[in-house]
Amino acid sequence: HNGVASIEIARPEKKNALTQAMYQDMADALLAANQDNTVRAVLITGQPGIFTSGNDIEDFAARGPGEGVSNPNSPVFQFMRALVSCEKPVIAAVTGAAIGIGTTLLMHCDFVYVADDARLAMPFVSLGLVPEFASSLLAPNLMGYPKAAEKLMLGEPFTPEEALECGLINAVIAGPEVLNHARRIAERFNALPPGAVRDTKKLLRGKRDAQVYEVIKAEAEIFAARLQSPEAKEAFQAFFQKRKPDFSKF
Ligand code: COA
Repeated sequence: HNGVASIEIARPEKKNALTQAMYQDMADALLAANQDNTVRAVLITGQPGIFTSGNDIEDFAARGPGEGVSNPNSPVFQFMRALVSCEKPVIAAVTGAAIGIGTTLLMHCDFVYVADDARLAMPFVSLGLVPEFASSLLAPNLMGYPKAAEKLMLGEPFTPEEALECGLINAVIAGPEVLNHARRIAERFNALPPGAVRDTKKLLRGKRDAQVYEVIKAEAEIFAARLQSPEAKEAFQAFFQKRKPDFSKF
C-alpha cells in the first residue's frame, strides 16, 4: 500500500510465536517486495502489545537433528537470508515484547521504532541455546562487549531507553503512535530515488554482510547441536509445564 509492503506478524493467541510456515510466508513476502518495482520500503509489525515471542518453542522441541536452523533451505534460514539481502529499506515497528529472533531480526533492519511499553530480550542461554543469525557478531559491535555479555550470556532484557542507548533502535515512540511513525518513515522513500537508496544501503552495509553470513553458519552448527542437548530439552519442558527449569544436574 502506498509504496510500502507490510508484513504483519499475527498469531496473538501464541504471542506471535513464529512457526516454520510463518517464516516461509515472511521469506516469500520479502523476496516479492524486493522484486516489485512499486515497493519502495518494507514495514515489519506485530500486534498491539506483542511484536513476537520468538521462535515457537514447540517447534524447537520437535526439531530432529539437522532440521531447521542448521539447514540453509529451512524456512527460518530463508527468511533471515531474505532479510539480510533485502536491497530496500526495512523498517520495524515494535510494540510489546520482541524476544529471541524477534530482537535478532531488528539488528538486520535499517530503521527500528519501539513503543515505550516494549521489552526486547535474547534469552537463548535460558533455553539451553546460543545466539543465532549473527547476533553474536552484531550485538558486541553495536553495544560493546560488556553490554552484549549481559544481554546474551545473562539474557537480560532491554528497556526501550536502553535499546536506544545500545544503538539497537532509532527511537522510542509513545505506544499508540509507533506504527504510524514507522509507516511515515517508510512512505518517505516514495519521494526518494530508489536506485540511490539501494546503492546507499549497499555501501552502508559494506563488508558486513559477508561476515554476517559466515557467522550465521558457525552459530547455526552450534545452535543445532544445542537444540538436541539435555539442557535445552529441560528448558523446553519447563516452559510447557509452566515451571522454572532445573539446570542443577548438568
Ligand atoms: N513458543 C510457543 N508458544 C509460546 C511462545 C513461544 N515462543 N510464547 C508464548 N507462547 C504461548 C504460551 O505457551 C501460551 O500458550 P497457552 O495459552 O496455550 O498456554 C500463550 O502463548 C500465551 O503466553 P503466556 O506466556 O501465557 O503470555 P504472557 O503474556 O504471560 O507472556 C511472553 C508473554 C512473551 C513474555 C512469554 O510468553 C514468553 O516468555 N514466551 C517465551 C519467549 C521465549 O523464550 N522465546 C524463545 C526465545 S529464543
